[in-house]
Amino acid sequence: MSQPSQFWDRHAKGYAKRAVSDEAAYQKKLKLTQDVLKADMEVLEFGCGTGTTALIQAPFVKHIRAIDISAKMLEIARTKAASANITNVTFEQSGIEGLDAPDGTYDVVMGHSILHLLEDRDIVINKVHGLLKPGGVFVTSTVCLGNMMWIIKVLLRIGRYFGLLPMVKFFSAEVLTGSLTAAGFRIDQQWQPGKGKSVFIVATKV
Ligand SMILES: C[S@@+](CC[C@H](N)C(=O)[O-])C[C@H]1O[C@@H](n2cnc3c(N)ncnc32)[C@H](O)[C@@H]1O
Repeated sequence: MSQPSQFWDRHAKGYAKRAVSDEAAYQKKLKLTQDVLKADMEVLEFGCGTGTTALIQAPFVKHIRAIDISAKMLEIARTKAASANITNVTFEQSGIEGLDAPDGTYDVVMGHSILHLLEDRDIVINKVHGLLKPGGVFVTSTVCLGNMMWIIKVLLRIGRYFGLLPMVKFFSAEVLTGSLTAAGFRIDQQWQPGKGKSVFIVATKV
């Protein structure tokens, strides 16, 4: 089976063309994030994909370090940044697991549509907690598939087997908030636009 980066390299162009599935919910998530952003902030986004969210939030902060494992996703992100003349986002090829950064570096960390794709989300959640300054904020929108019908889970596994879908982990919103609180986060916002939709969470490092 191929590496996750190869999967995302293969799908980068198609991903870039895909419309946001729920534009109103996306706009609300952007706004809720902007409520915590400040002009002097250092932000990390992991699994940034083609950079859409980082480039929208860039005017609200000092700098965004946007990382992703897929070179092809990053190629598209850099092209978008150049054509929009956005210079305070640095795109970098890295997995979150091995990211080289001292503890206490970031005011805000964003990770959207990514926690369910990780081999071990608890390791990453703990890493994010460490990377944040005291009182720093983790903003995440996550597909929580834990309560899906078994047939959907089987279909997702079959899609993965044939290379049509990435490897996904199945967990509920309750399990996710449990992981966050166990790592030392306080949940400030938890919002799900509708049944089966991604769960948006704003959590503060306490
Ligand atoms: C579903 S896409 C989400 C992209 C973007 N965050 C969004 O919301 O549109 C998942 C992205 O995470 C990246 N990714 C997967 N595993 C990763 C990891 N361990 N560290 C960093 N990026 C990762 C993939 O290459 C892909 O670009």
